[in-house]
Amino acid sequence: MTYAQKVAQKIEKAKGREEIRLLAIESSCDETSAAIVKGREVEALVIASSVETHALYGGVVPEIASRAHVEAIAQVVQQAMEKANVTPDDLDGVAVTYGPGLVGALLCGVSFAKGFAYRYGLPLVPVHHIEGHISAAYIAHTDLVPPFIALVVSGGHSHLVKVSDYGCHEILGRTHDDAAGEAFDKAARVLGLPYPGGPTIDKLAQQGNDNALPLPKAKQEGYNYSFSGLKTALLQGVARLEKQGVKLSDADIAASFRKAVVEQLVDKAGLALRDTGINKLVLAGGVACNSLLRSRANEVAQKHSAKIFLPPPILCTDNAAMIGCAGYYRYLKGDFADMSLNAVPSMTLPEK
Ligand code: KG4
Ligand code: ZN
Repeated sequence: MTYAQKVAQKIEKAKGREEIRLLAIESSCDETSAAIVKGREVEALVIASSVETHALYGGVVPEIASRAHVEAIAQVVQQAMEKANVTPDDLDGVAVTYGPGLVGALLCGVSFAKGFAYRYGLPLVPVHHIEGHISAAYIAHTDLVPPFIALVVSGGHSHLVKVSDYGCHEILGRTHDDAAGEAFDKAARVLGLPYPGGPTIDKLAQQGNDNALPLPKAKQEGYNYSFSGLKTALLQGVARLEKQGVKLSDADIAASFRKAVVEQLVDKAGLALRDTGINKLVLAGGVACNSLLRSRANEVAQKHSAKIFLPPPILCTDNAAMIGCAGYYRYLKGDFADMSLNAVPSMTLPEK
């Protein structure tokens, strides 16, 4: 039997069944992750991160990330299969992130997924990384159904998305420059704090005064964001206060910066809830771990009589479980790839 015939047989067997079980692979940045996901349920999740090596260089070094994926991927997949106690025969397909992300990093996951799918005659499901982040909420909240507004904030993206159905998105707003996570990481670098800056600033900010350093509110039209000016404003503000003999602590600077980023994010999310009349707000992406963002988003949702959905931090940062869940809905739609699937480093979230 050819690969195409085996795949057709697998898809036929899975038809009408809700219990579709996928091996999912994520390798778009510095996390090598594999998961076994049955529908929206996670049977196993394994994440190996090369973040500690990147921290030595103050940011992700693409070549190091690719090498780390190559070294880790086979073991990570094997561990996920063992944890879930499944064999390739128990799988209905393989879901993989094919973009956006670092091209070398993505290629490791895509190549492995293709090889695995070919070897075992399994359908291959291509998943957009951002769609994966949004789908983390389906895993964490079994009651969540579209439509909802998703605030997707990570190291590479800041999007406000209207999700009208599974896999159906409309981008309401996006950042014009830095992503929110990137802004945290850059601000941390300015302060001499370790990479990744987001978690460090969040922790430090707990002891700081968030009014210590006044930062300007970016005036972006519609639901769009802008964060790049904040870093410059931070530097200039600190220098101005120092001239006046005021020396701010790192905690005060971190708290002021965190507030400025978070207020921008939640203001626009609130506008989107108000204008669309949608009464569900989902947070997604690494920055969704931010403690202030979580509490402020909750308040904004309440103000608009909306329900908030906050996935646990492990599902907010990069992981393969979210890719498996997004892959499940792609599978139901019959959205498969063949062996020509390639990594796509820059790719906007498909809208429909
Ligand atoms: O989603 P993610 O793991 O990877 C990308 O797809 O980019 O997000 C990583 C980003 C980093 O920029 C990191 O600094 C940020 O998420 N981050 C946070 C927090 N935890 C992670 N930013 C603010 N506060 C946090 N607690
Ligand atoms: Zn991500």
